[in-house]
Amino acid sequence: MHQLLTNFVSMPELFSTYTTRKLWSDTHISTQMLKAHIDPSSDRASRQAETIADSVTWLDDRLKLAGKKLCDLGCGPGLYARQFHERGAQTIGVDISSNSIEYARRNASGSAHGIKYEILDYTQDPLPSGMDIFTLIYCDFCVLSGDQRHHLLRQIHKYLNDDGQLALDVYSLTAFSKFREGVSFEHNFMDGFWSPEDYVGLHKSFRYEREKASLDRYLIIQPDKHWEVYNWLQYFSVESIGMELEAAGFQIDHLASSMTGEIYTDTSEQIAIIASAI
Ligand SMILES: C[S@@+](CC[C@H](N)C(=O)[O-])C[C@H]1O[C@@H](n2cnc3c(N)ncnc32)[C@H](O)[C@@H]1O
Repeated sequence: MHQLLTNFVSMPELFSTYTTRKLWSDTHISTQMLKAHIDPSSDRASRQAETIADSVTWLDDRLKLAGKKLCDLGCGPGLYARQFHERGAQTIGVDISSNSIEYARRNASGSAHGIKYEILDYTQDPLPSGMDIFTLIYCDFCVLSGDQRHHLLRQIHKYLNDDGQLALDVYSLTAFSKFREGVSFEHNFMDGFWSPEDYVGLHKSFRYEREKASLDRYLIIQPDKHWEVYNWLQYFSVESIGMELEAAGFQIDHLASSMTGEIYTDTSEQIAIIASAI
């Protein structure tokens, strides 16, 4: 126990462990996540319904969705995919969570019938090819390591048609400045979110000042086992995200402070970007 807790409170090397697959694939956790996704008044896993509708309007204004081949990376239960499809895009939604994809498929009836959904890990699987547009929404780019981000951008570039575009959003340095370190623990921490069985959950957060990154680290201790989840976030300036995009063959066409299109300023906590493959 001493060794376990000593390790838990020490700061790990940045992006040293990738636990996302566990987070989105564990049956209980992904069921909890799906509940959060489809709650239209919650921002926890997907943004609120009104924000999603406004984001699709902004993206449609910029990308002219009708007739385009679009792949929504990390589509979750298809909240955006359905609306992209309604605006005339030939839409494919991909996600690592079979639970979310099964939900999306069940809901792809009626007018949403033409949407394709695939279970896929975009950090390692080939992406759908011949796309005009890729979207990666809700700052999912930020949870990846530098190598994973570069690999994903190169993959997107490879599977885009000429003049294809990518829409993504990331957390800004303003968001990093607001991130606070802390520690907390509780019996059945987060109201049983982590397991249907009895557990004690510990949470410790770390700031990586030089690298502009953060970690929310969770340790779940059950009577017969323990396990950890690492939620990393990389924060960006306009320059740093511009450099990563450029290194993978993209140029920025539009910048905004969110996917709903407000003007980007130094106080914006997010940066929404539309970039073209060059
Ligand atoms: C924060 S949610 C956002 C979902 C959706 N973009 C939205 O805004 O409603 C992140 C999504 O990315 C998916 N995801 C995370 N890592 C992934 C990976 N490596 N490959 C594919 N999907 C992934 C998760 O399963 C989850 O549905």
